Amino acid sequence: MQGQRIVLASRPGPSGPGVENFHLEAFSPSPAKEGEVLLETLFLSLDPYMRARMYDGGNYKASVGIGEVMIGGTVSRVLESREASLAVGDIVESRHGWQTHATVPGSGLRKIDPDLAPISTALGVLGMPGQTGYGGMLRYGMPKPGETVLVSAASGGVGSVAAQVARIKGARVVGIAGGAAKCSWLTEELGLVAAVDHRAENFAENLAAVCPDGIDVYFDNVGGEIFADTIPLLNAGARIPICGTISVDRHQPSPLGRDRMYDLHATILVKQLTLNGFIFDNLLDMTHAFRRDMVQWIASGEVKYREDVVSGLDAAPSAFLGLFRGENFGKLIVRVAGV
Ligand SMILES: NC(=O)c1ccc[n+]([C@@H]2O[C@H](COP(=O)([O-])OP(=O)(O)OC[C@H]3O[C@@H](n4cnc5c(N)ncnc54)[C@H](OP(=O)(O)O)[C@@H]3O)[C@@H](O)[C@H]2O)c1
Repeated sequence: MQGQRIVLASRPGPSGPGVENFHLEAFSPSPAKEGEVLLETLFLSLDPYMRARMYDGGNYKASVGIGEVMIGGTVSRVLESREASLAVGDIVESRHGWQTHATVPGSGLRKIDPDLAPISTALGVLGMPGQTGYGGMLRYGMPKPGETVLVSAASGGVGSVAAQVARIKGARVVGIAGGAAKCSWLTEELGLVAAVDHRAENFAENLAAVCPDGIDVYFDNVGGEIFADTIPLLNAGARIPICGTISVDRHQPSPLGRDRMYDLHATILVKQLTLNGFIFDNLLDMTHAFRRDMVQWIASGEVKYREDVVSGLDAAPSAFLGLFRGENFGKLIVRVAGV
């Protein structure tokens, strides 16, 4: 059997990651040994955190080594099993990265029930991004009825869940997204009270206009200039779950001046703000509650989701780079098999 995989060929240069940093190669998947399964990748998740792992130094976890397979979550089918709890044909969630096949220990894999929801949702609304939005909003945002909650990258995998969870809790939710189509989806489909296009002129004024009572919770997925624009609008006691910094490649020189730091520091004190950086691993104790609530909310139509599915493993590098230009509309997933 021949497989394909994408390895990290080189570290990004001064202009950030590019397609030249990836290399597609053929390989022969090994047969399963005792306790292992041979998997065929059906869907691969592409996520912003992968950018930092391309550099030396990584982020809160180690970098991908040169010549190593790019990391990533997958939904896969068992082709061969030598692990008692898994049978040929089972669908599982795995983390074997950008490759068509993988031979891995069977014990750490989560079986997915295809009758519960489309299996690709295990990478999005019912997976890591969904749980990050759900847990981050409930644990650190703590939205209350009538409060104004602002969410950036609000049409994406994390943001769309964070925004809808706050709406379900009775908050007045405003989303930030790039472009008219994403903004319309936020108000018309997800029921947000307003959406502000961060690519339009006068973004800061437009944001202030739809937050007349200030901002009580800012669920920050992007950092950078948008974060700076929210500072004057934050109410006393505002909570700011800091989930992501997609607008800033922190391995490149920062485009922002230090004066913003002084402004932020003073605002934290004067308005007694609570900023919480958090990562998915901090939310693992919420897994049961997350799956219970989300399955129910999807079934009742209270939570809607959108996936952006591209076809073929070879499409992964350019689709991944598009995340940083807002080219995806919804959770970005690669359909690896059956294309
Ligand atoms: N803390 C954690 O454990 C954790 C876990 C998962 C994800 N995250 C973070 O959560 C954020 C969202 O992740 P996701 O998986 O849901 O991705 P996503 O929102 O589905 O896709 C990324 C989106 O970010 C927006 N974006 C890109 N560059 C931007 C810029 N310069 N300024 C403003 N917006 C920009 C784009 O949307 P627009 O077209 O709307 O600009 C793009 O579609 C990321 O920062 C990610 O790193 C954190």
